[in-house]
Amino acid sequence: MHSDGVPVGIHDLTFRTTSLQLAHAELARHTGVPTAKYHRGIGQRAMSIPAPDEDVITMAAHAAAAVVERHGADRLRTLIFATETAVDQAKAGGLYVHSLLGLPPHVRVVELKQACYGATAALQFATALVHRDPDEQVLVLASDIARYDLDSPGEPTQGAAAAALLVTARPALLEIDTPSGLFTREVMDFWRPNYRTTALVDGRASVDAYLHALTGAWSDYRARGGTPLPKIHTVCYHQPFTRMAHKAHHHLLRQVGVSAGSQDIAAALAPTTSYNELLGNSYTASLYIALAALLDSGTPHDGATVGLFSYGSGSVAEFLTGTVRPGYRDHLRAEAHRAAVADRRSVSYGAYRDLHGRTLPTDGSRHATAAVTPGPYRLAGIDGHRRIYEVTGPAAGPRQPPTASRTTRTSAPTA
Ligand code: CAA
Repeated sequence: MHSDGVPVGIHDLTFRTTSLQLAHAELARHTGVPTAKYHRGIGQRAMSIPAPDEDVITMAAHAAAAVVERHGADRLRTLIFATETAVDQAKAGGLYVHSLLGLPPHVRVVELKQACYGATAALQFATALVHRDPDEQVLVLASDIARYDLDSPGEPTQGAAAAALLVTARPALLEIDTPSGLFTREVMDFWRPNYRTTALVDGRASVDAYLHALTGAWSDYRARGGTPLPKIHTVCYHQPFTRMAHKAHHHLLRQVGVSAGSQDIAAALAPTTSYNELLGNSYTASLYIALAALLDSGTPHDGATVGLFSYGSGSVAEFLTGTVRPGYRDHLRAEAHRAAVADRRSVSYGAYRDLHGRTLPTDGSRHATAAVTPGPYRLAGIDGHRRIYEVTGPAAGPRQPPTASRTTRTSAPTA
């Protein structure tokens, strides 16, 4: 059944992050960089740090479980796992989530990558699937861990989080509008070769590439009949660091011939940056956490047009809008989001550096991770090149019994 004008978009949106954080004030104490450079210069106050038993799968499963608990999985037909922190070159990370949550076998699972743009591609593909059959639902999981080398300029822009978006017909939160504007250009601004665990980046070039892509995506959006900027309530930008959103908005306003002071820009974007300034960069999840922050703030009125600018280095960018659905405030998860941010335990600079240096064995040997996460899913270890996940808490799963592969416990000694 084709949708024939039925609105399609984001029905539910939530995120989870790691259980540890490093405050930028603590980082500044040891790097000698003025704290103000972190707080004001890049707009970051803290960043999420994964515990040894947390990764993109455990964060994504945690976020997805909340969505599946509220809506069930009966109409779910597709799970798209968007990440640039893949744990396997072949197997989709979403398959571990499928197993941990006990999702039904009639859910197809794939993984999608294009740096921080991946989740936006996933959202558009999901929207198209639901337009084709409005009875189907699609779960988009965006999960990433931003890691740069210690003592590099990128270090204060690390972070981690996973967002879960349920895409359906007649959504409760945001209808995804057409048209959207696209801009693709091959550029080496930020990348991570398969043999590296930390990203390579040309910082200045990446900022310029982001702004250049914004110009291109916005021009394409307007050329295709998109809404003029003054009619867009708020724009959510991809936030590798929250000051980047300010730079982007300044750039966009200049492009359309509007002048605004930095205080006005900061005030306009404040509802979109409140979570990311404490989580850090979560790559492809970042934009959707900015959207969650905006909706949780309750500032858009029913029917408002909200802009989304997605940028993935390398590079692909898209400018799209959504229409806020009437009554959206009744479907938010602000309390859980604030708890996810606030409940993280602060680690010292020394502990952070120790965690940063940890890697899992690559020789097939058995290794058990320390049990640290209070979350419902943990990476218990690795054995014979197989990652071992377990359900440790009151996992909010769907209404099916667990499959045989759902929980694989290890008895290997604790690291
Ligand atoms: N008080 C207040 N502000 C201060 C300050 C102080 N004491 N000292 C410096 N600053 C300001 C600077 O003036 C500067 O502001 P402007 O950008 O407005 O000029 C800001 O702090 C940053 O300082 P630097 O210019 O010295 O920059 P840096 O060498 O520290 O590097 C960075 C900044 C390039 C963002 C670096 O952190 C980096 O490489 N990060 C990773 C790459 C990245 O995030 N790129 C973003 C675009 S790419 C993308 O979006 C995809 C993605 O997710 C990676």
